[in-house]
Formats: sequence, structure tokens, C-alpha cells
Amino acid sequence: MTASTEVKIFEKPKKVAKRVAKQILKLTQKSSQPRFDIALSGGSTPKKLFKILIEKHKEAIPWERIHFWWGDERCVPPDDNESNFKMAFDILFSKIEIPQENIHRIKGENNPEIEAKRYSEEIADSLNLRGGVPVFDMVLLGLGEDGHTASIFPGQLNLIDDERICAASEHPLTGQKRITLTGKVINNASRIFFLVTGENKALRLSEIMNDDEAAKLLPAYYITPENGKLIWYIDEAASSQIA
Ligand code: 6PG
Repeated sequence: MTASTEVKIFEKPKKVAKRVAKQILKLTQKSSQPRFDIALSGGSTPKKLFKILIEKHKEAIPWERIHFWWGDERCVPPDDNESNFKMAFDILFSKIEIPQENIHRIKGENNPEIEAKRYSEEIADSLNLRGGVPVFDMVLLGLGEDGHTASIFPGQLNLIDDERICAASEHPLTGQKRITLTGKVINNASRIFFLVTGENKALRLSEIMNDDEAAKLLPAYYITPENGKLIWYIDEAASSQIA
């Protein structure tokens, strides 16, 4: 584990979400930073985080200072229950005052390859660059039971070092088309927060944390920030097999 990586273990998923929410509050309130670009993860884990951001910090967070992006999206319309945008809109964006232009939706209804290119251009036009690569202030990530992260799945490790900003990918079991940030952009972020909770993530997490041979096949294993900080926010259930 490198010096830029930390592991924080909490008793329950809600405590994980509360800590991450507090970090977002703290980081976005820094007046030295007029704008904060965050890439959200999808799936179910972020739901608790979004709920706590509203319940605990709705009035305190400077929403107008934050630009929301996605680390990945399913290629479905924005009103589809599979949509990561819909999940965030229903729980978070529909409850706050935030300029429309601060919400950078991946248009899942578009052709995947064309949308991956369009989103890449929107990111490149909006974010600062470090080493010619866009820099997110924060990237939130989840961990799939198969060791995927964002929408980079096992067997798609080429997307870790892909030169592009975003790429089209596909869920290996369902065939669902996805759009994902590449590992190059994720690893260029100033902060990468993995939120991993639940017994069903314990095996993969232990493989990654224990640097097992099996981890070498897992995309999440290759999330190692070039210049930033990686913090694993995990609960006790997910940490149960870490040596
Ligand atoms: C997605 C996610 C994906 C997710 C993991 C964990 O679009 O599904 O971005 O990478 O973070 O699959 O999902 P859960 O939080 O539902 O376990």
C-alpha cells in the first residue's frame, strides 16, 4: 500500500456514508477552491451518501461551487431505473438548488461510442489538466463483486491505461452497454474515495488489500493515484477477510 493510500474502517455502512459526506462538506467549503469537480459512482452504495448529504449538510454545502460528473453510466435513458443519473437526481439533485450547468450528465440514451467521445470532450473543455490529463478534485468509486470499478470490468484491463478520457464498455454478464472514465483519468484525480460496504465485497477487497495474485485480474486493483490520495472507506463486513 503506498503512502498516498489510507484505509478507514467503520462499523456500519451509514457511518461510512457520514464520514464521506463530512469530507465533501469540508473540501467544498474551502474558499481557496472556487470550483470543485466530483465524479460520482453509481450502483446502490452511494444512495446512503446522497441521503446524508441532504439530511445533514444540505444548507451548508456550497452547491453552486460543485460540478457533478459521473465516473460511469449505463447506456439507458435518464428516466430508466438503471440510470446512475436518475438515482442521483431522485435522491440528491431534486432536493437542492444547483445551477443546471453544474450537472454534467452522461447521455446514456446516445450511441455509446459517440457519447463517450462527446463526454470526453466536455470533460477536456471543463477541467484543469495535469500531465495533459483532466484532473477531478474527487472521484467516488464502488467495488463490484467481480472486482470491477466504474464500468471497467475484468477482461477490460486495457481501459485502465487507455489513452482516451472515456470509453464505451459492456457488462460481461448482462451485455449492458456502459460508458466509463478510463483508469488514466481516475488515477489522475486529486482524491479517489472508494466506498465499499457489505459482506459480498469482502473477498475481492481482501484480494486487493492483501495484494493477492488473484487481484492482478481485478480492475479495482489498478486504481493507484499518480499524484493524489486514495482513501478506502469500508465497513466491518467488507473488511472481514483482510489479513
Ligand atoms: C455502476 C457503478 C459500479 C458500482 C459497483 C458497486 O454503475 O454500477 O459505478 O462501478 O460502483 O458495481 O455497486 P454497488 O454499490 O451497487 O455495490
